[in-house]
Amino acid sequence: MPDYTLKIRRFDPESGRPAYWQEFGVDLPEERSVLDAILRAKDEQDGSLSIRCSCQAAICGSCGVRINGMSRLACNTKLSEAAEDGRNGAIVVEPMGNMPVIKDLIVDMDAVHWKKVQRVVPWLLPEGDPPAREYIVDPESMIDVTQSMACIHCGACVSACLSLEVDPEFIGPAALAKAYRFVGDPRDAHTEDRLLDLAEDPHGIYDCTHCFACVEVCPKDVAPMDQIMRLRRRATADYGIKDQNNGYGHEKAFTDLIEKYGTLSEAQLLPKSYGDGSLIRAQVKPAALKELGAKFPTVIRGLTSGKVSPKTALLHHKLQDQDQIRRIYEEVESKEDRLELNLYIVGESGGEEEGATSEGGQEE
Ligand code: SF4
Ligand code: SF4
Ligand code: FES
Repeated sequence: MPDYTLKIRRFDPESGRPAYWQEFGVDLPEERSVLDAILRAKDEQDGSLSIRCSCQAAICGSCGVRINGMSRLACNTKLSEAAEDGRNGAIVVEPMGNMPVIKDLIVDMDAVHWKKVQRVVPWLLPEGDPPAREYIVDPESMIDVTQSMACIHCGACVSACLSLEVDPEFIGPAALAKAYRFVGDPRDAHTEDRLLDLAEDPHGIYDCTHCFACVEVCPKDVAPMDQIMRLRRRATADYGIKDQNNGYGHEKAFTDLIEKYGTLSEAQLLPKSYGDGSLIRAQVKPAALKELGAKFPTVIRGLTSGKVSPKTALLHHKLQDQDQIRRIYEEVESKEDRLELNLYIVGESGGEEEGATSEGGQEE
């Protein structure tokens, strides 16, 4: 009786056969990784079983797969842990999602992930003549981008992203995290152009639905969704970019409604979202009228199903302790500067010599 059973999704386009499941029994100690088990099965049972891997130490980012439905690094997942979440006694291993499968567990990263990374211009665009030697930057000013710099491009977040599943054109979590790496870099001279580009793109920063899947699966704690939120804050608060996708208006409508009522008035959210977030002015903009027209069936469905009525739309009830919500707004808005807490920086304050430390690697 083998220690572990792997149920692996197999696919070979050259065979002309559809994808199928195959089980492999593997004897290995519990602390060994799922990648070890796959390589053992390949060595001893079927040499055609294909997976991409290199470092076997969660550094190179090449062994991304889905294990029991979760996007993970195979080399960074212990057999004992995977077996606990297994199904019917088997550890289920599939290729990553949102990318075409080349063979078995190998997906085409070029077709999706790297294409999207290229889309965000992933290199510095400084202005003026380069310095005689290197660019000198204040180390403190780079802290904010260390988290996005830790990405190892494994594609786990791309695989797990729900927005990408619905809109394959979405720039996606990894590429947008990479975009922040340059938006937050003081040496880059095109911050506003980059933000404008990402805000105006219908598949850009406002295409993320805050589902947290990318945060949950990232093996390097890059938290791509947090980087997307930083891009949005920079675009709106720092550059006042009011995008044609109504991303700015939607966020403003959301926060204004919560400030006013303490709960979300969904009936008012739709009309307030279009344009610049104001209820009346927004609706005379051509783009807003077009968008609202497209949403008309949704409005009719809401009215006919009784989910909203003209009365509830206009008279949304206020929370009993609404003044407490308003106090939070006042507290936040009374600050002169926007305080961004980069939670990626960990460790204890150790004085000048030790300084702050960051976890994870610095690879790009
Ligand atoms: S939070 Fe946004 S980017 Fe991250 S997985 Fe969800 S939709 Fe995709
Ligand atoms: S952000 Fe995290 S999950 Fe996404 S590619 Fe980079 S390391 Fe992998
Ligand atoms: S083999 Fe390098 S990250 Fe898994």
